[in-house]
Amino acid sequence: MYPQRVLSGMRPTGALHLGHYHGVLKNWVRLQSEYECLFFVADWHALTTHYDNPQMVGENVWQMVVDWLAAGIDPNQVTLFIQSRVPEHAELHLLLSMCTPLGWLERVPTYKDQQERLSEKDLSTYGFLGYPLLQSADILIYRAGHVPVGEDQVPHVELTREVARRFNHLYGREPDFELKAEEAVKKLGSKRARLVRELRTRFQEQGDEPALEQAKAVLQETQNLTMDDRELLFGYLEGARRLILVEPQALLTEASRLTGLDGQKMSKSYNNTIGLREDPDSVVKKIRTMPTDPARVRRSDPGNPENCPVWTLHNVYTSDEQRSWADQGCRSAGIGCLECKQPVIDAVLAEQAVFNERARPYLEEPDLVKSIVADGCEKARDLAKQTMRDVREAMGLNY
Ligand code: TRP
Ligand code: SF4
Repeated sequence: MYPQRVLSGMRPTGALHLGHYHGVLKNWVRLQSEYECLFFVADWHALTTHYDNPQMVGENVWQMVVDWLAAGIDPNQVTLFIQSRVPEHAELHLLLSMCTPLGWLERVPTYKDQQERLSEKDLSTYGFLGYPLLQSADILIYRAGHVPVGEDQVPHVELTREVARRFNHLYGREPDFELKAEEAVKKLGSKRARLVRELRTRFQEQGDEPALEQAKAVLQETQNLTMDDRELLFGYLEGARRLILVEPQALLTEASRLTGLDGQKMSKSYNNTIGLREDPDSVVKKIRTMPTDPARVRRSDPGNPENCPVWTLHNVYTSDEQRSWADQGCRSAGIGCLECKQPVIDAVLAEQAVFNERARPYLEEPDLVKSIVADGCEKARDLAKQTMRDVREAMGLNY
């Protein structure tokens, strides 16, 4: 019914690092040529946790967009925008908040988790509780079919599905739906129409699932139905309402295999990252001083790559051949750790050279980025306005 749109957002809370690239951005780049993609800077989301320092958010917005472009996001293929420039997100969030049970938000796992993890901040705010609902509005306002996210965000997409279902249930009743559906049933011919009505009753009154399946099959094999009629009749069968908001699917991003410099997950809060666009000297220094298998105290001690954080970089950055050389050299103490690290250093530097090259025109001419984002905001806003028109109409707010 609606195009398979992909939507995702990122909070502008700091410079992006290689963990973001291998965990998220590479996936976005892959998706951009397969789907209609919208990617946005979730600046309001950043405020839910950084409301005490909104300036930081502003500073990161443009840098983050440059990082996306550096990573290979193609502004000619995707729509890039900033959440707060499409104020319709806030309107939908508000309207959804009217009919979203408090308990749905309180039981989102990230709510309690984050409050505990960021205990130095006061996150007992209205905005923080509403964060996942704002995310639902972000997704639903574009009728996105797929939402690429990491595992921690899956409950938010699940909430979004529930919110959409509830909204459609409450407001999706079209005044003349039954009438229209009856007309469409008649087009099936009297024999089929009778069968479909009978099966529908069995499903709706007794929850008879096979009857529903059978009725759907009848509709599928009826040749001369229009798409609209078929859609209408599916709704008629299930007792579903008109779909004003579309239930999205999470597109699970494979967790990044990239660990940080200390072997923990690469994350700004652990201070173990390599930036997406970092000074080469600093990259070299960071990798050279990275800890290795603790068993290799001396050069002559054999090691085991399985116990070495550098190995996770090898897995992402080097060839099979280089890895088997490093694996043998490590286990036999044939090579030293600095030797082993060299191909990784070379590969990271080569990757960064590409990122820097892509970023250069935007750094030289920041207006370029602004104009890409301005275009994106306009496009996004057009789409958002369409949905809001339907939403207001469904709720009877178009007086
Ligand atoms: N909550 C997401 C995160 O922290 C960011 C985000 C906001 C998002 N709105 C979204 C992701 C909509 C996907 C879709 O990573
Ligand atoms: Fe790690 Fe390589 Fe040193 Fe082995 S040789 S411990 S894999 S850095």
